[in-house]
Amino acid sequence: MSKQVLERVGATIAVVPHFPKDGIMFRDISGLLASPQEREEAFDLLYQAAKDKQIDAVAGMDARGFIFGLAVAERLKKPFIMIRKPSKLPNSIALSYELEYGSNTLEIQKEATQGKNVWIVDDLLATGGTALAACQLVEMAGGKVAGTSFLVELDGLPGRSKLEAKGYSVHTVLN
Ligand code: PRP
Ligand code: ADE
Repeated sequence: MSKQVLERVGATIAVVPHFPKDGIMFRDISGLLASPQEREEAFDLLYQAAKDKQIDAVAGMDARGFIFGLAVAERLKKPFIMIRKPSKLPNSIALSYELEYGSNTLEIQKEATQGKNVWIVDDLLATGGTALAACQLVEMAGGKVAGTSFLVELDGLPGRSKLEAKGYSVHTVLN
């Protein structure tokens, strides 16, 4: 993985202090999405983490995880599973969890997940609440978690340790 590519991708992600709440240093991926070359490089880096794993399907979390998860699923030529915010998915099961700046509920469709080895993708790992809920949902739906991957991992927050303590592998591109 070239240092220049990582630096180029990282430079497109702005840090916005005190958004959406006081004390939060928000990582804004809008600049990355607006940059075709760096966006492609970011998708490729996430694909590299997944390409040699035993994966039947890729899941991504509403909303930013859809962008990165679908890009990985396309490169792997595997199904993509949406893990959505409440009341959007018919025939789904739900789980609530705490976030760095609030609480949230996610839902998944059992039919799409049952019996599959699922690789979970999101843009960012902070407290790990979202990713842990996603892992638990996959298992509640009868799937197995093949691993998790994120474009950005925030240092100083317990996301990685929370996931690894439960036995989920964590792959991140940028810290
Ligand atoms: C963000 C981000 C991750 C999550 C990470 O999503 O895309 O899913 O927070 O935080 P955590 O590790 O503390 O759980 P958010 O819920 O803000 O939704 P969005 O994708 O719709 O912006
Ligand atoms: N999701 C949770 N914490 C975040 C942060 N600091 N920046 C962007 N997205 C986030």
